[in-house]
Amino acid sequence: MAIVLVTGGTGHLGRELVERLRPAYRVRVLARSPGSGGEVDWVRGDLATGAGVAQAVAGVSAVVHAATCSPAARRGYLRPADLWRSPLEVDVDGTRLLLEAAARSGVDHFAYISIVGVDRPRGPYLRLKLTAEELVRESGVPFSILRATQFHWLLDRMLGKAARLPVLPLPTRVPVQPVDPADFAGYVAECLADGPGGRREDFAGPEVLTLGTLVDQWQWARGRPRKVIGLYAPAPLMRAAYTMTAPYGRRGTTTWADWLGRRGGR
Ligand SMILES: NC(=O)c1ccc[n+]([C@@H]2O[C@H](COP(=O)([O-])OP(=O)(O)OC[C@H]3O[C@@H](n4cnc5c(N)ncnc54)[C@H](OP(=O)(O)O)[C@@H]3O)[C@@H](O)[C@H]2O)c1
Repeated sequence: MAIVLVTGGTGHLGRELVERLRPAYRVRVLARSPGSGGEVDWVRGDLATGAGVAQAVAGVSAVVHAATCSPAARRGYLRPADLWRSPLEVDVDGTRLLLEAAARSGVDHFAYISIVGVDRPRGPYLRLKLTAEELVRESGVPFSILRATQFHWLLDRMLGKAARLPVLPLPTRVPVQPVDPADFAGYVAECLADGPGGRREDFAGPEVLTLGTLVDQWQWARGRPRKVIGLYAPAPLMRAAYTMTAPYGRRGTTTWADWLGRRGGR
């Protein structure tokens, strides 16, 4: 059985990827805190330091690189510092180390997980993702770049933090097209089976919503009603938001409402 290395295999997308890939491949996961399940080959490592990277890549036919470090996503809200800085160590330096190890081991396919609209980057984290894409393209390792729109968990977390306020002042008209990482994992598995494909079709959720509708559905599902104050969305903001959707790309089937419903109001 071919071995596939998944970085970020303990994360939201990574866990879904491991489940999707396990029937067809031996799955290896590079993790800072390895799990104990014997169905996966765990390698302890850290992309920020390079520890374990060579060992993780040795003998694998493909790498799915889904590890990332976004402090803002972890916390679920932006701090002012997030607007000018995002840590490089995992997304850029770690990607470089992984690509070098993949080139040395003769990896057949390096699948890089990225974000829709990243080539018109706004903000430091997206700039890091674009830099990482460039490293992948220039590495000489056969590759695919797979971009998705915002994951449901991230929007859920951000709204959960925002709902600590009594009112939500939001640009309610901006478009969003959130996606279930489980749907995206299915697409990644399909692309892995196809082999290196360069930049693959963007992947998005089944519907483009306005932020106002998304918030209404969230409030209804979570039972946390807050007064929403609709802020005017200037044209540059509307354009930026549109570039982060993919209405003509591949689409998952799980709607935001479905996803919220499945989590039983949690
Ligand atoms: N979230 C979104 O809305 C979204 C949308 C489109 C694309 N993406 C992309 O999808 C990918 C996965 O995102 P996600 O939302 O699933 O992220 P996530 O849940 O935050 O998971 C991040 C993963 O990276 C690992 N990681 C962090 N630092 C590491 C390090 N120093 N060494 C090794 N592993 C490290 C984490 O491991 P620990 O368990 O040790 O922390 C975790 O497994 C990323 O490339 C992201 O840019 C995300």
